[in-house]
Amino acid sequence: MIASIAEAKGYVKIAIKCENKNAKKARLLYLKASQFYLQDAQKQNNPLYLQMAKYLYNKANSLKTKTHHTSSLKTDDSIKPYRNLTIGFDDICGLKEAKQSIKEKIILPFEHPEIYKVYKRTAGGGILFWGPPGCGKTLLAEATAKEAKAVFYNIKISDILSKWVGDSEKTITDIFGKASKEPSVLFFDELDALAGERSGQDSSFGRRLTNHLLSQIDGVGTKQNKILVVGATNSPWTIDTALRRPGRFDEIVFIGPPKKEARKQIIQHQLKGTPVSANLDLNHIAEKTKNFSGADVVALCNDAVNIPLKEALEKKSIRPTGTADFDKALEKRKTSLDSWFKEAKTQLLKIQQQDIFKEVFDYAY
Ligand SMILES: Nc1ncnc2c1ncn2[C@@H]1O[C@H](COP(=O)(O)OP(=O)(O)OP(=O)(O)O)[C@@H](O)[C@H]1O
Ligand SMILES: [Mg+2]
Repeated sequence: MIASIAEAKGYVKIAIKCENKNAKKARLLYLKASQFYLQDAQKQNNPLYLQMAKYLYNKANSLKTKTHHTSSLKTDDSIKPYRNLTIGFDDICGLKEAKQSIKEKIILPFEHPEIYKVYKRTAGGGILFWGPPGCGKTLLAEATAKEAKAVFYNIKISDILSKWVGDSEKTITDIFGKASKEPSVLFFDELDALAGERSGQDSSFGRRLTNHLLSQIDGVGTKQNKILVVGATNSPWTIDTALRRPGRFDEIVFIGPPKKEARKQIIQHQLKGTPVSANLDLNHIAEKTKNFSGADVVALCNDAVNIPLKEALEKKSIRPTGTADFDKALEKRKTSLDSWFKEAKTQLLKIQQQDIFKEVFDYAY
């Protein structure tokens, strides 16, 4: 085997490993590998290498389309405004009721404050997305900003707590100050990291920060309705009840696992641009992924596509991904949500908030 093909294979192996975690890196590695195959295909007039180059090129591009569904936000630079957002409500599969409720509860009042004022509906206040991991809370927050034609601030509470201890209050004041200059969505992710009163942790710092955040949110109504506050948490049972008083995060929306049709759409989207069998039984795969989170479905698609890809690397001919590949991938990948639902039910019953956060009890996990 010639050196560059060996190198290309090395790239593909790393790309397969990292594509679920870092699609951008995987995409670049696939592109690099594709170039190597192309070079050697031309040098040696080898049709298999040419086919392989095309296949890897398409694979790289399929990851590019995926970033359409995958938030492009960076975690290390979270306090800057994001403009030119790429994800709108139409790019998020399912979650119809959640989208409708976001439109009615926050986007319309945000866009038409004058009409709401006539009917003495108070401005301000935020919305809290809650639910299991990997089901679209961050995606929806970003899409909310796009729908509201606002800029987006992605603020992870853990970032504020860890990076700027001592200065966190000032950081929050600065963000609200900056955001009040133009229509903005302030997304406070991992609200539970504020360690509310029930967490049992030493939370004096968290409490100070909570109070500061609340005073800023309370002031939003006076800032000419330029700021929309969205929060998210996986564990609403740890959230300080003060956060949910009127005028604060007083609207709560459950973001749950994708239903069958939504799972089909996610699969179709993930396979776009790659060779797919004409007989692919989407219905069957959607049935088999009943309790999966959106992120689980995405990971399953990657596992399935990697089967024909690996075969192709071993010099067999290129073939499309089929139902059998999904069945094989399903042997190893199960829903990641079992433990979350169990914990959620136990905790909510314990603190007797099963009526407020009732949706989890609709699921048979
Ligand atoms: N409804 C959906 N439509 C399309 N893709 C989805 C959907 N739900 C989840 N995904 C996929 O799963 C990934 C994770 O979603 P997201 O980051 O929004 O989850 P989350 O609810 O914020 O999770 P966490 O609680 O861990 O922060 C997305 O980048 C996307 O690829
Ligand atoms: Mg998230």
